[in-house]
Amino acid sequence: MKGDLKSILRNSLNADELDLVIKSYDIIGDLGVIQIPEALSEHKRTIAEAVMQQHKHVKAVWRQSSPIRGPHRVRNLEWVGGEKLSQTVHRENGYTLKVDVQKCYFSPRLGAERMRIAGLVGDSEYVVNMFAGVGSYSIAIGKYSGAHKTVSIDINPVAVYYMKENILLNRLVGRIAPICGDARTTIADQLRNSVDRVLMPLPHEAFKYLDSAVAALRSPAGWIHYYEFAHARKNEDPVNAVKRKIVDCLEDFPVKVVEVNGRIVRQTGPNWYHIALDIHLEI
Ligand SMILES: C[S@@+](CC[C@H](N)C(=O)[O-])C[C@H]1O[C@@H](n2cnc3c(N)ncnc32)[C@H](O)[C@@H]1O
Repeated sequence: MKGDLKSILRNSLNADELDLVIKSYDIIGDLGVIQIPEALSEHKRTIAEAVMQQHKHVKAVWRQSSPIRGPHRVRNLEWVGGEKLSQTVHRENGYTLKVDVQKCYFSPRLGAERMRIAGLVGDSEYVVNMFAGVGSYSIAIGKYSGAHKTVSIDINPVAVYYMKENILLNRLVGRIAPICGDARTTIADQLRNSVDRVLMPLPHEAFKYLDSAVAALRSPAGWIHYYEFAHARKNEDPVNAVKRKIVDCLEDFPVKVVEVNGRIVRQTGPNWYHIALDIHLEI
């Protein structure tokens, strides 16, 4: 039986408990990752079974037991059902991404944003992805653009292990160059004035690295794809607030802001938004 999670659980949970079930959850390859409120802890196995009933190919279910946190941007996961597997292969947009959900960041909700960025990359471009994770944006760029090379940096050695696997799986050896290290140090040591385009998919603190992104761009011009989580009340525009902040900040650099295009990637909570800015600079 396929149906929404609440209707599958209707015979196992009472009405008050059903109200607490969070309907939307992530399917990453053959894994389910779900939030289960504390008040439903005693039903966690039943909820896991319901997820596997809703998605027959799902082999293991993990409960998100902390927010995404720390330098590697991972969340604590508690195994709640199926086989005890945390490594999987996720398929999206015609490429495959191998990932261990316990040890690396990955969100299946950003597949459309990855394709949007890949569609902006021009032929022969030299790109740096400062916060590449398992290589999700870089693989999309390698597969769907004519980029010459995408240097892909991440500070989490496990993410870089999977990034290398993903480069092989998607036959992109030579097109994506994996580097394990800190993006700031790597750019300072190897990539000053070198690239046409910089990706900054670290929305909670990309701002701290804006100087490194600018330093990586080569003359005469280039693009930065900047991400940030922004709060906005009703009638406030979260995109404009981030735009103003970044344009102000760029006034301190020896660059000319040619164009800034902003958009909401997705809403992440009540009044919270994941914002993308595409910033065109003359160097
Ligand atoms: C939000 S995740 C995004 C990963 C990937 N771009 C994706 O969307 O799947 C941010 C990544 O940045 C990495 N990271 C955090 N600080 C870093 C730094 N200073 N230098 C390089 N990587 C860093 C984390 O390990 C994490 O994999």
